[in-house]
Amino acid sequence: MAQDYLTDLLTRYWFAPPVALWRAVELRVAAQERYERPLLDLGCGDGLIGQVLFGRASSVDVGFDPWLEQLRQAARSGVYRHVDLADGHHLPYSDGTFATVFSNSVLEHIPDVRPIVREVGRVLHRPDSAEGQGGGRFIFTVPSDAFRSLLYGYSRRRKVGDVEGAEAYASSVDDWLAHHHYYTPDEWADILAAAGMNLLKARYYVPRQVEELWDRMNSRYGVKRRWSVWGFLASPRLRSLGYQSLLRRLVVRGLSRRWRSYYRMDVPPGDKGGGLLIVARREE
Ligand SMILES: C[S@@+](CC[C@H](N)C(=O)[O-])C[C@H]1O[C@@H](n2cnc3c(N)ncnc32)[C@H](O)[C@@H]1O
Repeated sequence: MAQDYLTDLLTRYWFAPPVALWRAVELRVAAQERYERPLLDLGCGDGLIGQVLFGRASSVDVGFDPWLEQLRQAARSGVYRHVDLADGHHLPYSDGTFATVFSNSVLEHIPDVRPIVREVGRVLHRPDSAEGQGGGRFIFTVPSDAFRSLLYGYSRRRKVGDVEGAEAYASSVDDWLAHHHYYTPDEWADILAAAGMNLLKARYYVPRQVEELWDRMNSRYGVKRRWSVWGFLASPRLRSLGYQSLLRRLVVRGLSRRWRSYYRMDVPPGDKGGGLLIVARREE
């Protein structure tokens, strides 16, 4: 039976339900790929996504991140055989070490991704024509070139002709999420080709209805505002009062039912979604 990422992630991110929704759809799509080992998780953060996606203890060979606190949590998660404090611009691994490099929601936060993509190309397995083996694969997720226009706050303003307001809204989301770029599949193909990789697949996920819900819920649950009633009630500082386990149960039970159809929605053929999963292979 397919894993229920929605319930899993609502349980873990009950205090920020829209985060759970986006990531659940992302993992449902990412889980459909094959991850050959040795496997590297680039920008693994706290390891939560690695743990939910790959499950078993030590199922990822290496995770790295430049953020020490997050990396400590990743180490504690037990999913990585080894973790490194490192930056994607200078990977501390020899050429051709990995069969797969995975990266979830990292590249959009890095202003110039080209040097990092070059490093990924270097550490992936070379193709071996004598053995008839293809090169290593780079599998990553990023927000897509349609992300801004699928925001509810953007399309609502565009519909009434407020182009400037729509742009300002999308820019405020870029700032809040620290997103630096939204490349199209063709642009990714060029970036990957310059690093010796060939784009094999570009799959959009998070269709319009889901992104609109996500955007509205970010406001409702105060995810992007400094202060909200929900944010206050869910604050870790109030954990000792004991009521949060009830709150969590209510969120998990209620939203895993109410958001189920959104969780299952795929992007219709020919349309774009707010997220993009790319699979590329080292060719040289
Ligand atoms: C949104 S988090 C995603 C973390 C994890 N992949 C996940 O899906 O939960 C972005 C991560 O990228 C990492 N990061 C930022 N700049 C980086 C760089 N130059 N090289 C590697 N990781 C980087 C951050 O430290 C952070 O942990």
